[in-house]
Amino acid sequence: MVQEKLEGFDPDGQFETEVLSKKHDRNGFHSGNETLDRYLKQIAGQDAKRGMAIAYVLFAKHDPQTILGFYTLSCNSINFKTLPEGAGKKLPENRRIPVVLLGQLAINQSVQGQGLGRKLLADAVKITTEASKQLGIYAVVVDALDEEVEKFYTRAGFSRLEDYERRLFFRLK
Ligand SMILES: CC(C)(COP(=O)(O)OP(=O)(O)OC[C@H]1O[C@@H](n2cnc3c(N)ncnc32)[C@H](O)[C@@H]1OP(=O)(O)O)[C@@H](O)C(=O)NCCC(=O)NCCS
Repeated sequence: MVQEKLEGFDPDGQFETEVLSKKHDRNGFHSGNETLDRYLKQIAGQDAKRGMAIAYVLFAKHDPQTILGFYTLSCNSINFKTLPEGAGKKLPENRRIPVVLLGQLAINQSVQGQGLGRKLLADAVKITTEASKQLGIYAVVVDALDEEVEKFYTRAGFSRLEDYERRLFFRLK
């Protein structure tokens, strides 16, 4: 059910994601958020080299250099006490809960509002679910920029964690 909410718009399979590399045109990407755009241009490559985060880019199959969207994944952990009541049943209360942090998510302004943001969320959950077969991952977490963006995540099935301003989680199945 929750997984269904994450299905993004791509009926004809026109779009793909892959790890950011030199072939992608970072300078042509503009999301309307300068910090995120600058991250893609100046920091994403370094972060991959120093083991801090891996950036994934979204592109149309017919134009693989043009970045339509991106996000990063990195390892993180949360305190058991931040899970909403009932969510942490059967988890050991005295240990950190392993999660993957979804960061820096942005869609190019020219294609915002067409379902591609949700497609990126679905992609991040899919990659993390695959990884969770080889290392322990309880959930994907994200820090929403503001209250409006928080709605974008909650509509897709993310729930709030306690004790954080706008940190949300999506439990992997
Ligand atoms: C936020 C962002 C990633 C959303 O991507 P998008 O492709 O425009 O969103 P989608 O078209 O996939 O929208 C999916 C759903 O979220 C809703 N939504 C999208 N942006 C929203 C926003 N800012 N506030 C509230 N709801 C939003 C849509 O209405 C849609 O809901 P529905 O399917 O129930 O009708 C994109 O607008 C963006 O890059 N913004 C600038 C950078 C940013 O704020 N990044 C967030 C970092 S935490």
